[in-house]
Amino acid sequence: MSQPGLPVLPPARHHIGGIWAQPSGGETIAVEDPSTGQIVGDVAAGSAADIDAAVSAAHHAMYGAGRARWAPAQRQAALLALADAVEARAEEFARLESLDAGKPIFNARIVDVPGAIAALRYFAGWATKLTGETMELSTPGNWHGHARREPVGVVGQIVPWNYPLMGAACKIGPALAAGCAVVLKPAEQTSLSTLRLAELASECGIPAGYFNVVTGLGAEAGAALVEHPDVAKISFTGSTLTGRRIAESCGRQIKRCTVELGGKSPVIVLPDADLESAARGIATSIFFNTGQTCSAGSRLLVHASVVADLVERIAAIGASMTIGASGDADTRLGPLISAAQHSRVSGFVESAQAQGAHLAAGGALSGKGHFFRPTILTDVTAQMAAVEEEIFGPVLCVAPFETSDLDEIAALANDSAYGLAAYVWTRDITDALGLIDRLRAGTVRINSGGGNDFSMPVGGVKQSGFGRENGRAGVEAYTELKSVTMAY
Ligand code: NAI
Ligand code: MG
Repeated sequence: MSQPGLPVLPPARHHIGGIWAQPSGGETIAVEDPSTGQIVGDVAAGSAADIDAAVSAAHHAMYGAGRARWAPAQRQAALLALADAVEARAEEFARLESLDAGKPIFNARIVDVPGAIAALRYFAGWATKLTGETMELSTPGNWHGHARREPVGVVGQIVPWNYPLMGAACKIGPALAAGCAVVLKPAEQTSLSTLRLAELASECGIPAGYFNVVTGLGAEAGAALVEHPDVAKISFTGSTLTGRRIAESCGRQIKRCTVELGGKSPVIVLPDADLESAARGIATSIFFNTGQTCSAGSRLLVHASVVADLVERIAAIGASMTIGASGDADTRLGPLISAAQHSRVSGFVESAQAQGAHLAAGGALSGKGHFFRPTILTDVTAQMAAVEEEIFGPVLCVAPFETSDLDEIAALANDSAYGLAAYVWTRDITDALGLIDRLRAGTVRINSGGGNDFSMPVGGVKQSGFGRENGRAGVEAYTELKSVTMAY
């Protein structure tokens, strides 16, 4: 495959009411290529006034006088048309995503862009499948009772930088299918593909005002969206720190919110596991996207009898990954998103080493881009920050265990403030089912390192957040039930 050239960047504007919108102020945010540290363009730094304009376009689309009804079949057709439009421009989206997020172009082509298309198609189907219920009332007399499902209202969506296009598709898909109008704020590091998506949406039958994008900083545009009184629900994906702030604000306003937050997901390997498949799955889970995945399996809990063999295999897979600029077709491990993320990841590794952890593989790379090698820390203890906190880099912490007692193994896995995902590698079905019972996580995978199917609900327990995205639950989260009782 030939080397891709620089893609055409969208304008440094918002996309409001179906058209490019001039920002209210002149502030911009630089767009950096994480592979080189070079500035390649800019996006608008949206203000509270820009958010207000977008929310009012959304509000008008849903509730304005004289508006046309947007029927379920039209919503389905529009989402399918948008998926087709992204597919027709798949290579352009892959280049934009690769440049902006530092993703290997190989990965953007096979995961991010096809994933976004699949998500739009999956959610399109739900538009015509949502139903309410009818009830038989026991109250004396003649009654008709039903509960109908209505769109919750104007929705504010805040997306992080690790999967910008797929993240945007998974946010707008269910909201639009349910009939909500959306104001989406992409992460300030990765706004380009989302702006392009909004531009396409307006050509695909999504009525003006239903999908608005305001770019900008979290503390300004993001906070204004969360605080806006005409926004009925916030859907946030990102760090636990910011999620807590958003949930607090929503609580004060009695605003609905779904928060999909960080993780520190355990990977349990029992001694009977197929070590070669386990090594591949574990390496993919922690090294893919340079470890910047919320559900990455980052704590390896492995039986002592197989730890040396397994770590050697994972290290070999890590060492075989070609590190390089995101636009190079051979690259399999791109840079971290930013210099800040590079120093954050380095800090976790250095502090673990200072406390006695052993760097079995990898470590930071210095230079212009924000590169970090596939890294394995052994001899870790549960109290190290690298073991307790989400690193969001390609860093696997390894802790062997001796026991075969499932309660004890699950207790090690559950010893975390987070509860997003958990992974188990074993050929023993009784042990697998026993661990599923005991693990406190929103997702459990048996003999699998990852991969998404949009029919499966995802979300966290404990500090990993609340609410579910994807699947039926993810669509119903954008609806509210209205009880209707009629006497006759
Ligand atoms: P963040 O959670 O602050 O940012 C995510 C999104 O929230 C961005 O769009 C940002 O603009 C927005 N945001 C930030 N502050 C806001 C506020 N006060 N009100 C409304 N929106 C706000 O995460 P950040 O700063 O990019 O990364 C910090 C660390 O968080 C990372 O190093 C990583 O460890 C973790 N992280 C975890 C993610 C996950 O999916 N689990 C995703 C992104 C970051
Ligand atoms: Mg960028």
